[in-house]
Amino acid sequence: MKATLVVGARPNFMKVAPLMREFARRGGTETRLVHTGQHYDENMSKIFFEDLELPEPDIYLGVGSGSHAEQTARVMVEFEKIVLGDRPDLIIVVGDVNSTLACSIVCSKLWIPIAHVEAGLRSFDLALPEEINRMVTDILARFCFTTSPEAEINLKREGVGEERVFFVGNIMIDSLLNYIDKADGSQILERLGLKEKEYMLVTLHRPSNVDDPDELRELFTMLSRLAERMPVVLPIHPRTKKMLESADPPVALSDRLSLIDPVGYLDFIWMMKSAGIVVTDSGGIQEETTVLGIPCVTVRENTERPITIELGTNILAGTDPARVEAAVTRILDRGIGEHSLPPLWDGKTAGRIADILEKHFP
Ligand code: UD1
Ligand code: UDP
Repeated sequence: MKATLVVGARPNFMKVAPLMREFARRGGTETRLVHTGQHYDENMSKIFFEDLELPEPDIYLGVGSGSHAEQTARVMVEFEKIVLGDRPDLIIVVGDVNSTLACSIVCSKLWIPIAHVEAGLRSFDLALPEEINRMVTDILARFCFTTSPEAEINLKREGVGEERVFFVGNIMIDSLLNYIDKADGSQILERLGLKEKEYMLVTLHRPSNVDDPDELRELFTMLSRLAERMPVVLPIHPRTKKMLESADPPVALSDRLSLIDPVGYLDFIWMMKSAGIVVTDSGGIQEETTVLGIPCVTVRENTERPITIELGTNILAGTDPARVEAAVTRILDRGIGEHSLPPLWDGKTAGRIADILEKHFP
């Protein structure tokens, strides 16, 4: 089997690394890794290749930032040249970023089968660009590899035949479980002067939270208030940094709220595991905190990952700062209830995917 795997943005690297490792271990599959360059800062891209022991990409498309149409179109134009040059038997895309969508559209029109890892997640909110990326990719994919039982129901509702759907578990958790012991060697807490369980870890990057200057100001003002109770550390996403730097007048921040640059995978998973509480609008972090058993307050109106609420440690607080503050305060006062691991979030998802693909491409 000749398989091309695509990465583009930060949340893709930890989903592709277990597959690259599994194919290398088994032999028999010729892999080619394409990096679209959607994310390009060293701490949004290169550092993950080191931390996750990913091989250098075979091809780097260097598309960079732009509007949705510009970015998607640039990936399409460059990726088409690559797959026309060396027709793979299969492309493997992960998650829901613009690179996922762009490569899927290209391959579907060239009759190259698509495998979508993390298929079937739905927020039912078309205002989120990721929802469009997910829906289109799933409709086009020959293999929809799902993380949780409700994904199959979502796919069925959209007319995806059951012969295309494979419940394999959560590939992100393969990386988490594989690296959490190694992350124990991280010195990040000492470097930042943080004490285990005595800080709040925050990430925010959804356009709906950070692109509107007033909403951004209100959220950061609320976080500053919370920091008076528990120190806050916030590795700031470049989108959010740009918006915060352009705020006029500047947003007044508590000196107990530390903004730091985005950190690598090993440092970040260690910071999550050691945190008292996590506040985020990230998709992946809702899942990782569930596995680590760390309370997570999600600053969104909806989630495409409801299993993290039903079984895990996630609480959907909405985006109103007062509600987020109340949710965090409640958890700090009373803790969280019972929680358990979603089925097949066991670190063995890459193996299940490779088994299925090897059967189809003997
Ligand atoms: C993208 C994904 C989002 C994912 C997030 C993970 C889409 C539509 N969005 O959002 O689903 O949750 O990545 O982090 O695919 N920038 C830099 N350096 C970089 C990358 C980005 O400075 O290395 C800045 C640029 O100003 C850019 C902005 O961040 O315009 C947004 O980047 P973009 O990739 O368009 O979207 P994200 O918000 O990162
Ligand atoms: N992450 C990281 N460093 C950071 C912030 C996040 O390594 O400073 C990791 C996090 O552990 C998870 C992934 O990046 O594996 C989530 O990416 P992001 O929040 O950017 O995207 P989303 O999941 O929202 O699409």
